[in-house]
Amino acid sequence: MPASRRPDGVLALGGVSLAEIARDPRFGTPSYVYDLDAITAEARDLQTGFGSAPHLVAYAVKANSAGPIVQALAAERCGADVVSGAELTLALRCGVKPESIVFSGVAKTDAELDLAIGSGGGGIGAIQIESAEEIPRIAARARAVGRAARVSLRINPAVDVGALDTHSYIATGHDEAKFGVPLASVGRALDALTHAPELALVGVGSHVRSQLTATEGYLASARAVFTFAREVRSRFALEFVDGGGGFGIDYGEGCAVRPADFIRATLVIKKEMGLEDLSFYCEPGRSLVGAHGVLVARVIQRKVAEPRRWTMIDAGMNDLMRPALYQARHRIVAVALDAAAGTGSYRVVGPVCESSDDFGIHELPDIEGGEVAILDAGAYGYSMASRYNGRALPAEVFVRGGKVALYTARRPADDWITDRLRPEPAT
Ligand SMILES: Cc1ncc(COP(=O)(O)O)c(C=O)c1O
Repeated sequence: MPASRRPDGVLALGGVSLAEIARDPRFGTPSYVYDLDAITAEARDLQTGFGSAPHLVAYAVKANSAGPIVQALAAERCGADVVSGAELTLALRCGVKPESIVFSGVAKTDAELDLAIGSGGGGIGAIQIESAEEIPRIAARARAVGRAARVSLRINPAVDVGALDTHSYIATGHDEAKFGVPLASVGRALDALTHAPELALVGVGSHVRSQLTATEGYLASARAVFTFAREVRSRFALEFVDGGGGFGIDYGEGCAVRPADFIRATLVIKKEMGLEDLSFYCEPGRSLVGAHGVLVARVIQRKVAEPRRWTMIDAGMNDLMRPALYQARHRIVAVALDAAAGTGSYRVVGPVCESSDDFGIHELPDIEGGEVAILDAGAYGYSMASRYNGRALPAEVFVRGGKVALYTARRPADDWITDRLRPEPAT
C-alpha cells in the first residue's frame, strides 16, 4: 500500500511511522523509504495477469537499482531489463538468472557486450538491438567471446507521441527518438541478421513510453510488434515478443488501469494473432516500485514575500530529479498533522542553486519546521540522484513486515570532498 495516514495523524509506509524514520539518527533526512512487501505484492499482482501464458516480467532496474529491491523481485521470479554493464552485474549478483535478463540501450560498449554474451552458461536472455548499425558490432563481439549471442530486435513503431500524451522526454517510440530500429531500417537489420551466423534472433519488441495511464498506446505498439513477429517468424526461431515497460502509476491525477490489465488486454490480441506459443515479455520499472517509496525531508525554513510563500526543504533536485527533468509533479504532504495549525499554499523548493530545484506549489501546514513526505518517489528517484552542489546522497530505508529491515546510510558530504580532491599527479 502507498503511504497512508495512521489514526494519530502520522504518515506511515508499510506500517512504519515516517516521523520516527525522519528522527532516527541512523537515517535522518532526506531519506528514501521503501515498502518491500508492497513491491513484492505489486510483482505478484502483475504475474497473475498472465494466467498460464508463457511470460517474463523483466524488471527495469534503472527505475530503482537498490539491491534489496532487485533481490525481492528476483525472488518473485522476475527477470531484469538492464541498460549498462553495471546494472547487468548488479542483477546477476541479486540472483536474477542470466537467461531472464534483457539488455537494452542504444550505445552498448564492447566490454558490456562481452559481459552479456559471456554471462551464465549461454549468455543472457537477449541483447536488444536498437539499430541496424549495432548488428555487426554484436556479431564481432560474439566471435571474440567465442559464443553465439542471443538477440532481440527492438523496433521503433513510430507511434504518434502527441496521441500518447506524455512529456517528450519519456516518450521513446516515435520516429524522432534515438531508441529502437526505425521502421525504415528494419529490412536492413533483418538482412544483416540473416548473414550473421553468430547471432540468434530470439525476440522482437518495442517500448513506446513511460507513465501510460490508458491501454491504447501500449496495445497499438503491441499490435505492431505482433504483426512484425508474424512476418519474421518463418525466417527466425522466435521465442518471445517484448512489449516493453511503461505502465503508469497514480501521481495524484488518477490512473485506473493496473499493470495486469495491460497484460490481459495484450494477451487477447496475441491470441487473436495466433502467437500463443511465443512467450510475452514486459519490462516494468515505475509500476513495481514508484508508489511504494517516499522521500522524507525536513523543512529548513520558510520565506514569505506576499503573495509568494516558499517552504525550503533539505531535499533537492539532486535527490529527486523528476520535477526538474520532466516537469513531473509529486504530491507533498506533512508527515505529522497538527490539528491546531492552519494550512497555506507554499512553493516547495530545495537547497540546490538552480531555479529548477522546485517541487511546485503544495498545501502545507502553517508551522515552522517539521517534516514532509514527497510521495510516489520509489521510481527514478535515488537511481537518478547526484552529488551536485557537494550534496550528500540521501539515506535509503527498507521496510518489511511492519518494521525497518535494512538501510543504507547517507553518503556524507565528507565523501564528496575526498572524492573531488582525489586526482593524483600524472608523472
Ligand atoms: C527499454 C525500456 N524498458 C523499460 C523501461 C521502464 O519503463 P517504466 O519504468 O515506465 O515501466 C524503460 C524506461 O525508460 C525503457 O526504456
